[in-house]
Amino acid sequence: MDKFVIKGGKRLEGEISVSGSKNAALPLIVASILSDDISVIHNVAKLADIDSMNQILEVLGAKVQLSGTDLKIEPSNCDKFEAPYDLVRKMRASVYALGALLGRLGRARVSFPGGCVIGTRPIDLHLIGLEKLGAKIEIEHGYIVATGNDLRGADIDLMGPHGSSVGATANVMMAAVRAEGKTIIRNASCELQIVELARFLNGMGANIEGIGTPVLIINGVKKLHGVEYTVIPDQIEAAAYMIAAAITRGSILIKNGIAAHLEAVIDKLRGIGVEVEDKNGHIMVSAKDPLKPIDIRTAPYPGFPTDVQSPIMALLATVDGISVITETIYLERFMHVSELNRMGANIKVEGNFAVVKGVPRLSGAPVMASELRGGAALVLAGLAAENQTVVSRVYHIDRGYEHMEQKLTGVGANIERLSD
Ligand code: UD1
Repeated sequence: MDKFVIKGGKRLEGEISVSGSKNAALPLIVASILSDDISVIHNVAKLADIDSMNQILEVLGAKVQLSGTDLKIEPSNCDKFEAPYDLVRKMRASVYALGALLGRLGRARVSFPGGCVIGTRPIDLHLIGLEKLGAKIEIEHGYIVATGNDLRGADIDLMGPHGSSVGATANVMMAAVRAEGKTIIRNASCELQIVELARFLNGMGANIEGIGTPVLIINGVKKLHGVEYTVIPDQIEAAAYMIAAAITRGSILIKNGIAAHLEAVIDKLRGIGVEVEDKNGHIMVSAKDPLKPIDIRTAPYPGFPTDVQSPIMALLATVDGISVITETIYLERFMHVSELNRMGANIKVEGNFAVVKGVPRLSGAPVMASELRGGAALVLAGLAAENQTVVSRVYHIDRGYEHMEQKLTGVGANIERLSD
């Protein structure tokens, strides 16, 4: 298991390029099996989660070829319908195979998903949505077995206890594009990856209206064709490097950072006193003391992303005064707090609030990543901390941040990957 050794306290300066979005690429990869033609997806990041999705496609019978950042998928022989536990357990997004297989073959057998340990993550909305389209769902030995050769359009509401569901919206969309008649998805997720999936599916010949709004109207079509598509830059990765500039009171040009995708994050960073400039497809971020505390509440897009909650908490831990962070999507997503406190932070969790009292300096310590975004937060804290921080279980971070240590080294960080 790899670890990062970080000698913190250096002001970071320079340029970092953002890779293609992990969360946008994953549903596109699996959606490509809805046609028999070749699809090509550009700007695909080299990430463990992308490898996992490619492996799932191969197990289903598709041919997958990644050269550089171009992914070519040949799905014509994709006739298997089981996504096995060994692959699915690694990543929650594997559950997308359910909707895509139903749309392609009318049957699917997909293991219950794994992914980050950030509290309960049910998939009831996925199953309700697919059932409304006429699929028969059974749970057998840890697998979801779905059958439905004659899916029909339906009126489906995907509102859950914490807002809409990204994954359920994606699954229902993929099954509905080939169902007979009209599907209306109410309270659909408006997240960027859903917008991208809808555009990708329309590029394949689907008929989806209302893209980017909470009401999606899908008129089923008989056949889809291949598509060539470029993945958007990863706004969650961009946010991490914006925070790297802020937490080291440095100055970084985030190349390929799209400010329009990051309005809520930019708004909060500016509120903290960080300078953020939209440079037409790039974002310039610079910070110097003193910074100000701020309150943050996570919310579905275009609200403040839950995936940036832990990274910005690391920053606020270094800002004098009291900041309150409220997590509304994953109420228990605070696994990183005890590790940040081991680095000298002063953070108290009460229910779904974290009260962050800024300290003058974090101090390096051995810490352990226990999930993807929380792991990134520990690296960010390590960049600002005195002396040495060792972040273990880097495999969590490798799921979603391409060559993080190389990108940070490029702006002057002292960070090294060690393999056991
Ligand atoms: C996606 C993102 C993840 C992000 C999350 C919220 C991908 C691959 N992952 O995850 O990075 O943190 O959106 O923006 O794009 N829920 C239910 N029932 C369901 C499904 C979800 O109650 O059937 C709840 C969840 O527990 C959670 C909330 O709804 O509280 C949102 O989850 P959801 O939008 O489904 O997240 P994911 O698609 O898993």
